Amino acid sequence: MSFWSPIEVRTLFRAVAQAPSVHNSQPWVMELHERSVLLFERWDVALPHHEPKGRDRLLSCGAALTNLRLAMRVMGWQVSTLLLPDPAQPDLVATVTAVRRQPPTETEADWYAAIPERRSHRYRFDDKPLTPHEIDAVEAALVGERVSSRRLAADEAGMVAGLMEHTAELLHHDHRYQRELRSWTVRRGRDRAGIPVDQLTHGLFGGLVRLGDGVPDHEVLTARIADECVLVVETVDDGRRDHLIAGAAIERAWLAATHLGLAVSVITQPLQLAEVRAGLSERLHLPGFPHALLRVGRPSLSVAASPRRSFSDLVRTL
Ligand SMILES: Cc1cc2nc3c(=O)[nH]c(=O)nc-3n(C[C@H](O)[C@H](O)[C@H](O)COP(=O)(O)O)c2cc1C
Repeated sequence: MSFWSPIEVRTLFRAVAQAPSVHNSQPWVMELHERSVLLFERWDVALPHHEPKGRDRLLSCGAALTNLRLAMRVMGWQVSTLLLPDPAQPDLVATVTAVRRQPPTETEADWYAAIPERRSHRYRFDDKPLTPHEIDAVEAALVGERVSSRRLAADEAGMVAGLMEHTAELLHHDHRYQRELRSWTVRRGRDRAGIPVDQLTHGLFGGLVRLGDGVPDHEVLTARIADECVLVVETVDDGRRDHLIAGAAIERAWLAATHLGLAVSVITQPLQLAEVRAGLSERLHLPGFPHALLRVGRPSLSVAASPRRSFSDLVRTL
């Protein structure tokens, strides 16, 4: 008899499947073993023109790991997690083992409940500002060992706007990048991975830079960034482990925000350009390595869920 009941298997699958991922590529596979679940990175899912180094793919696996751990916690297991446990299997990104019975905390239950509600909100937020308590709660969920958050100040918005404009100018003319983005832009009801075309908003701030969007106006973009709560996610180092840790932290913060009724979108695209990443680090005097910008605000509209891969595509049975 299997350690995991059929209901538990579906619960684990659903939690992991609903994690956010770069271009909704869902670049992971789960393997269910006695007491433990193994999470593998899918190297066949590659975005060579968006992110040649695969950093976002590992961030995505980190986000899936957060959901996997939460699902096991709400099943009543205390879990032990090993990151990159086997050098002989470099695509094995984590092993999560059920150690002993332990009920979840209220926070874990809240974050788990937020998994199906979480969405990428690439649109403008509602004008009502966030309270300090809300921002603190999201930042507290993000911060952890080796990972921290740095909130952009209003007088840094112009500098960030400049980096976004530079990104837009470059990517508009990068035909290979645009072709790749088009191949990951999908129609609802037809594809199970990729971003539905209705969710790709103008790449002003929050969306992805598409061919016909035009370079944003500096003043407009600066004002918009200055108005928003933008958190820079950074880690102490820049190795594979750090990328997993950053992805796991982003998902914790995203779920904490969702639980509070807030909306989030993640921006990593500009940071794939070495000069943008270095420019941001330098001008913000970041001690670590930036991985993503997290926009946090109040939802201005409700966003439909993106499609997800099937059970047989995500769960490897032994
Ligand atoms: C590592 C990572 C990088 C991402 N980068 C971007 C980005 O640069 N721009 C963007 O609009 N969305 C980005 N996203 C959001 C994904 O496109 C989104 O999670 C995916 O399409 C699934 O949609 P959902 O979040 O609504 O479930 C990123 C997500 C992750 C996990």
